[in-house]
Amino acid sequence: MSLSEQHKQLIENSIERVADVAGDPSPLVYARLFAEQPEMEPLFILDRDGSAQGHMLAEALDCVFDLLGPRGYARTLIQSELTNHSGFGVPPTVFATFFRVVRDCFAEVLGSEWNAETDAAWGELLREIDAIVEQQTAKAGMEVG
Ligand code: HEM
Repeated sequence: MSLSEQHKQLIENSIERVADVAGDPSPLVYARLFAEQPEMEPLFILDRDGSAQGHMLAEALDCVFDLLGPRGYARTLIQSELTNHSGFGVPPTVFATFFRVVRDCFAEVLGSEWNAETDAAWGELLREIDAIVEQQTAKAGMEVG
């Protein structure tokens, strides 16, 4: 199965609703990431004002929007960020978990608004991103984790 038009609409609506309800979700996303993967927090030590964190989330969401629409550059962006992140000490298996953290954070922000259909749509998106990460990792001959 791949992303249907209905899935795409549900994902887009959920991202817009998170912005309505919580404004900038960046602090919530990183609080969750560091609670789940504390070993990642020291990697952001030079990002004193959180701007790299904000930029990273924006790029990840742009990547999602590309997959929902034109599908022009998500694959290439993921490919190059996999290599950059490997240099930061973030292996591909961890890289892919960021999108999962975003999904879980958004589900928490939206509470009862997050329904089974929205959950299924995000599940499909995450499966697709996992597949892209796997393919690009293999293509680049990188160690997965
Ligand atoms: C859990 C997974 C991830 C971790 C732990 C992680 C970690 C990092 C770290 C440590 C930096 C450097 C911060 C600095 O310069 O001080 C960074 C930068 C960046 N990351 Fe990630 N990353 C993850 C996933 C992703 C994903 C999925 C994307 C997008 C597809 C992404 C896009 C970026 C971008 C664009 C930057 C540069 C930000 C800037 O300097 O303005 N990252 N990431």
